[in-house]
Amino acid sequence: MARILLGVTGGIAAYKACTLTRLLVRAGHDVLPVLTAGAERFVAAETFHALARKSPQGPYPHLERADLLVVAPLTANTLARLAHGLADDVLTEAALAHDGPLLVAPAMNVRMWQHPATQANVALLRERGVEILGPAEGELAEGESGAGRMVEPEEIVARVAEIVGAAAPPGPLAGRSLLVSAGGTREPLDAVRYVGNRSSGRMGVALAEEARARGADVTLLAANLAVPAPAGVTVVETPTAADLEREALARGGSDVIVMAAAVADYTPSQPVRGKRPKDAEPWTVALEPTADVLAALGSARRPGQVLVGFAAEGGENGLDRAKAKRVAKKADLVVYNDVSRGDIGFDADENEVVVVSQTGERSVPKAPKREIAAAILDEVERLLSKT
Ligand code: CTP
Repeated sequence: MARILLGVTGGIAAYKACTLTRLLVRAGHDVLPVLTAGAERFVAAETFHALARKSPQGPYPHLERADLLVVAPLTANTLARLAHGLADDVLTEAALAHDGPLLVAPAMNVRMWQHPATQANVALLRERGVEILGPAEGELAEGESGAGRMVEPEEIVARVAEIVGAAAPPGPLAGRSLLVSAGGTREPLDAVRYVGNRSSGRMGVALAEEARARGADVTLLAANLAVPAPAGVTVVETPTAADLEREALARGGSDVIVMAAAVADYTPSQPVRGKRPKDAEPWTVALEPTADVLAALGSARRPGQVLVGFAAEGGENGLDRAKAKRVAKKADLVVYNDVSRGDIGFDADENEVVVVSQTGERSVPKAPKREIAAAILDEVERLLSKT
């Protein structure tokens, strides 16, 4: 977890800084938002304090120690003020008082960005080691297009994780990349409604945390987590099955992949645009099958990779079905849990599982999810040591 001072300046992209705050908090960081007067014309300071779970600061936020100062969005004006060391508001005072890394995400009109004055200021900042993310190309608020858009909050969060996460601690998984999915996907019915499931993401988050503690370089595919993501892992939001499929396949080369997420098996064929108004008619929804991510990863697997799935089963023959799933999806391990029991599994703090491998089964008695995660990763390490 890092302490991050988040400067927000006055541009239309200030609304994206709300998402950025939420994601940084979710990634386990302590975020202190500092808004310029310009930013407050677009978004209220209260919004940021609520998202950062902070009460409004005292008179000296600029003297707070921070591991990292992020300014997003960064206007041409504040970029110039930072370049020249002005200290005429709380944010620029904070920037001068800060002696750690500075990461900025400029957002402005393309012509302002390209202006020699701005480019000279950018060069000054770069010379001083300031890291500048973007701006991205695309449609700009005024209807023009070109370089000027703030990069997406996810990209900033990923870079923050690299800067403050530093190197993973030493451990048996040091040097290994581990991809873990967690949570439950939500498939849109319309702009506000969805088909979802009860998965909280606790099991996947516990796996990510344990893997990180063992030194792995962890990426967490987060599908609507009800719990915060652990510190030191890269979080990629994957709210729907399609998002999860795309992001998982893009990282299909990871040394270890654990599919702990409850991925929707079906998605509405034709989600309604906007919010469907209520009327007296029944609403019939056709659902179509989604891609099986684990099976796709299994088919594309490379030698030496370890692939782990979960099998949410219930009742008699549950274990047999879990074993069949391991073979069908070409996974090395399948973690079987009995979802018919209310005290474990879905949305619970504890779990009790059977880890099924090609050579046998290992029962892990009821325990907190972090201990279950440790038992699963012991099996993963055993398989890795054979390759
Ligand atoms: N899974 C997946 N993609 C899907 C559905 C499931 O990758 N579209 C993964 C889950 O993350 C889990 C494993 O497949 O690791 C098994 O999930 P489970 O829901 O138990 O099984 P299903 O294959 O969906 O089969 P069923 O629902 O019929 O039991």
